[in-house]
Amino acid sequence: MTKANSEVVVGGSDTPLVARRAYPERISASAMAATFSRAINEGVIKSHDDTVVFYNLSRLSDVIDSLRTAFPPTTLHTMAVKANPLVEVLKQVRAAGHGAEVASLGELELALAAGFPVEAIVFDSPVKTRGELEVALKMGIRINANSLGELARIDGLYATLGSRSQVGIRINPETGAGSIDSTSVAVQQSKFGVSLNESRAALARAFSEYPWLSGLHLHIGSQGMSFEQLLEAVRMVYDLFIELRENAKIRFFDIGGGLPAKYRESDVPTQFNEYAAALLKHCPRLFDPDVTLVTEFGRSIHASCGWVMSRVEYVIEHVDSTATLFIHVGADMFLRKAYRPDDWHHDISVCDSNGQLRTGSKRVFHVAGPLCFAGDFLDRNVYLPANLGEGDFIIIHDSGAYTFSMWSMYNSRQFPAVIGYYGAGESFSCLRPRQSLEQIVDFWSRGAER
Ligand code: LLP
Repeated sequence: MTKANSEVVVGGSDTPLVARRAYPERISASAMAATFSRAINEGVIKSHDDTVVFYNLSRLSDVIDSLRTAFPPTTLHTMAVKANPLVEVLKQVRAAGHGAEVASLGELELALAAGFPVEAIVFDSPVKTRGELEVALKMGIRINANSLGELARIDGLYATLGSRSQVGIRINPETGAGSIDSTSVAVQQSKFGVSLNESRAALARAFSEYPWLSGLHLHIGSQGMSFEQLLEAVRMVYDLFIELRENAKIRFFDIGGGLPAKYRESDVPTQFNEYAAALLKHCPRLFDPDVTLVTEFGRSIHASCGWVMSRVEYVIEHVDSTATLFIHVGADMFLRKAYRPDDWHHDISVCDSNGQLRTGSKRVFHVAGPLCFAGDFLDRNVYLPANLGEGDFIIIHDSGAYTFSMWSMYNSRQFPAVIGYYGAGESFSCLRPRQSLEQIVDFWSRGAER
């Protein structure tokens, strides 16, 4: 049972667990339209803003709160920076007590710019160079190595650099793909992690050989992974944890991210407290006081906090009574949706230029992006209000994770403004201004062109 402003009861009759969730599962179309209308009235939207990203900061706090209350207070929660790297958002994440999961030096720099203390940062990446390892080891940042080869490199650096980093190893439990291949990483011969099946003995050796190796990490995929798969994967690595604990000190266990987000009304994603209750039930020693449990959620936190408005520039009628409408964002921001339309979904609504939601009878539209290639469609054959027209705005729901963070510079279009807001739009603040044309030139030049 999951309802707005209601109690969420999870865990089955033998493990009753009740948590309050003081926010609706998703932001409704009417709430988005009302916020947009306020933003227009307050002059937040400029005439050149053909696309604007909105991000609800109150909701972010609520979601983080529900995650943090689901797990014991000793848990180190880190946010996957790749899901949403906006520094202003990261600052709020940090202020809520969270850490940051980073997978490149760029993401590390963003985390530091947002003020995360080094002890709250986890460095994951499938391919860490010696230089990157040196940076992290010198700073004392927690590292999850992706392979046995990476452990060997760390061994060559650890003592020389006088590092204090806690180091873990990423395990691939090979529990198989979820419903989306491109984001399923616990398959055989995945590029992520050490195969539990093939390398169990080598892992035990590594723990006896490297005194600084003290953690286990897994992450099996993002969206499309079932609750059962997530739990089964943790359980398999937990068995290894119990085994290794006989001879080695295991100080942390990092369960990664991977809880799905709700993109359709019919989706019933696992709740944080449901996941935590299952872990407590099936993997109780992860909650021992001498083990730090680490999480790395991204999508399940950010997706429902963000949405995108893009102006309808043209509507082209077709002989079959469908029509193509052109907006100002496509595969540059919704890369997955454009390239793998069957795997990914965003609900779409429409409002007029004053923020009045269009309702009434619907007909079939194709929603085209602005880029110079035929595949640049946000959606095809989608039912939208029949009376929409030029100057209206398309609202793209649940766009707070892995959308603008995957921005492509193809066609050198300007990255839109990102507007943060609290409540229903009681106050707005610019989280990132629209990219300037000068910044575009800088991006593609060696810096002295102007
Ligand atoms: N930890 C690690 C090591 C990861 O690789 C990821 C995501 C996360 C945590 C966070 O997972 P989440 O809780 O957000 O599912 N739309 C992108 C998704 C890639 C996800 C990558 N890893 C794409 O389509 O490539």
